[in-house]
Amino acid sequence: MRQIPIIIDTDPGQDDAVAILTALGSPMLEVIGISVVAGNVPLERTQENARIICEWAGRSDIPVHAGCARPLLRPLVTAEHVHGKTGLDGVALHQPTLPLQSEHAVDFIVRTLRQRDSGSVTLCMLGPLTNLAMAIVKAPDIVARIKDIVLMGGAYFEGGNITPSAEFNIHVDPDAAATVLGCGAPITMLPLDVTHKARGTPARINLLRALPNRAGNLAADILTTLERFDVQRYGVNGAPLHDPTVIAYVLQPALFSGKHVHVAVEQGSELTLGATPVDWWGVTGKAANVYYITEVDADGFFALLAENLSRLP
Ligand code: RIB
Ligand code: CA
Repeated sequence: MRQIPIIIDTDPGQDDAVAILTALGSPMLEVIGISVVAGNVPLERTQENARIICEWAGRSDIPVHAGCARPLLRPLVTAEHVHGKTGLDGVALHQPTLPLQSEHAVDFIVRTLRQRDSGSVTLCMLGPLTNLAMAIVKAPDIVARIKDIVLMGGAYFEGGNITPSAEFNIHVDPDAAATVLGCGAPITMLPLDVTHKARGTPARINLLRALPNRAGNLAADILTTLERFDVQRYGVNGAPLHDPTVIAYVLQPALFSGKHVHVAVEQGSELTLGATPVDWWGVTGKAANVYYITEVDADGFFALLAENLSRLP
C-alpha cells in the first residue's frame, strides 16, 4: 500500500499529542517530519513536547524541527489555561533524548516540498500557521508543489474559543492565516464547527482506556484532563477533540463532509481579530478557497483513533 507522505506542523498541546500519536500509529502515513510552532505554550515547550510524544510512540527516528517562536506580526498568545504550564498537563513527562534538528522548521518545510515529488506531500497543520506562512513568503515556488493543506482552525457557525469571534489557531496569527488561506494551494479546513461535534464522551474515552497499551491510556488521560477545562466551559458531555480530526480526515475523509466556500480572516479589528467569515451562500461572488468541514461521524472518528493508537507501544 502506498503511504501518504505528510508533514505535521504542531503546537503540542494535548489534542496535538493525540493527533501525532494517531498519525504515528497509522501504516497509511509516512510522517516525513514534525515542524513545531509556538502556540498553546511557548516554543521551548512545544518542541520538547513534540520530542516526548514521538518517544511515547517509540519513534525516535522522526525528525523534529523547531520553527517560529512568535506570530508574524503580533505578540504570542498562549493557552496554558487549557493545556497547563507544560502544555501536556495530566500525564507524566520524561526528559526526551530524541534530538532536536538543527534545521529551522521553515527551511525543513521548504526543502521537503522542493525535494519530494511535486503534489505528493500533505501538510497537516495543528497550530498557528506561522511556519507555513513564513515558508510561503520565503519560497513562493513551494505552493504549487503542495498536495494539500489540511488545517484545524477557524469558526463560523460555532462561537470562538479564545475570543467570542475567533478560534485559537487563527487568532494567534491571523496574518499567517490570511497568507495561507490566500496562497492558492488546496486547503481543507476543520473548524470548531466540526470539532465541537467530535466530543470525548466518557464512552469514547473508555474506548481508548480499554486499549492494552500505554498510548491508549495516555490518550485517555489527556482527554480526561481536557474535560477539566472544556466541560466546565461547554457544560456538555465531553470536550471537543480538535487536532486529531486533521489526521482522521487524511486517513478517512469519508467520515467528514462540508462545502467549498470562500473564507477570509479578520486581521485588523482588536474586537474580532482572527474571525473567519465564511461565505456559505456565495454572496461575495469570491471563488472558494477552502473545503470547509462542518460534519463528522463522531463514533467512526473515535474508532479510527482507537484503531491507530492500538498499534503503538
Ligand atoms: O482551537 C483549538 C486549537 O487551538 C487546537 O489546535 C489546540 O491545540 C490549540 O492549538
Ligand atoms: Ca494545536
